[in-house]
Amino acid sequence: MKINIYSDEEIQKIKKSGHLNYMTHQYLKDLLKPGISTKYLDDEAGKFIREHGGIPTCLGFEGYPGNICVSVNDEVVHGIGREDHIIKEGDIVTFDIVVTLDGYMSDSATTWPVGKINKEKEHLLYHTEKSLYVGLKELKAGVPLGNLSARIQQYAEKHGLGVVRELGGHGVGHEMHEDPFVPNYGKYGTGIELKKGMVIAVEPMLTAGDYQVSMLDDDWTIVTDDYSPAAHFEHTVAITEDGYEILTGE
Ligand code: MF3
Ligand code: CO
Repeated sequence: MKINIYSDEEIQKIKKSGHLNYMTHQYLKDLLKPGISTKYLDDEAGKFIREHGGIPTCLGFEGYPGNICVSVNDEVVHGIGREDHIIKEGDIVTFDIVVTLDGYMSDSATTWPVGKINKEKEHLLYHTEKSLYVGLKELKAGVPLGNLSARIQQYAEKHGLGVVRELGGHGVGHEMHEDPFVPNYGKYGTGIELKKGMVIAVEPMLTAGDYQVSMLDDDWTIVTDDYSPAAHFEHTVAITEDGYEILTGE
């Protein structure tokens, strides 16, 4: 395992990429309404990122065909924008976006309601986003990474949500997926020791039902086995001496 340590200057560059990433999420959530296709959202994301000097980095990654990932309802991650996938009132929609700017990458995901959503989805969105911040609070130099994983799992399960096991966060910066792997479940006191200058993407993927997932025939889209809705919130953060800094925020 080779974990990169980023300099302050490099972290500033990841943060610039992260700001464009954040702006792309804001742009897309304002476009969300019943009747549009997930392909339209993917196209708009690609245009927006390029117009601002960035590269939509998912495109071509291991052959991935979209600019970003757009996942709806029981789709957990890696949903591909399709002309014939039309957004409806009551859906929840996740954007998962990797931007490269000036050679540095950021990764961020958000899940949004379309119009009025049911109570189950409201509960899921609220607590999935909360689980990300609850987990992040564990981060600082000298602490084992497993503390974040354990905290996210504990919070999610306390609120009756399933923690997807197969996928997790990762180092990010020069590449989309670097060491270390960042699971959303685990035990306190385990895992690698965090160091100042590590940059990781933390990304709880929670479900309103069971946590088992499968891949669709398109070889990308991951869906819940019980068709329960799933949510996904992700920030890229840098580890500091006394905590962490969010790099994909405003
Ligand atoms: N943000 C996604 C992740 O961390 C990256 C998607 S890769 C893609 O897994 F190829 F599906 F775009
Ligand atoms: Co990620």
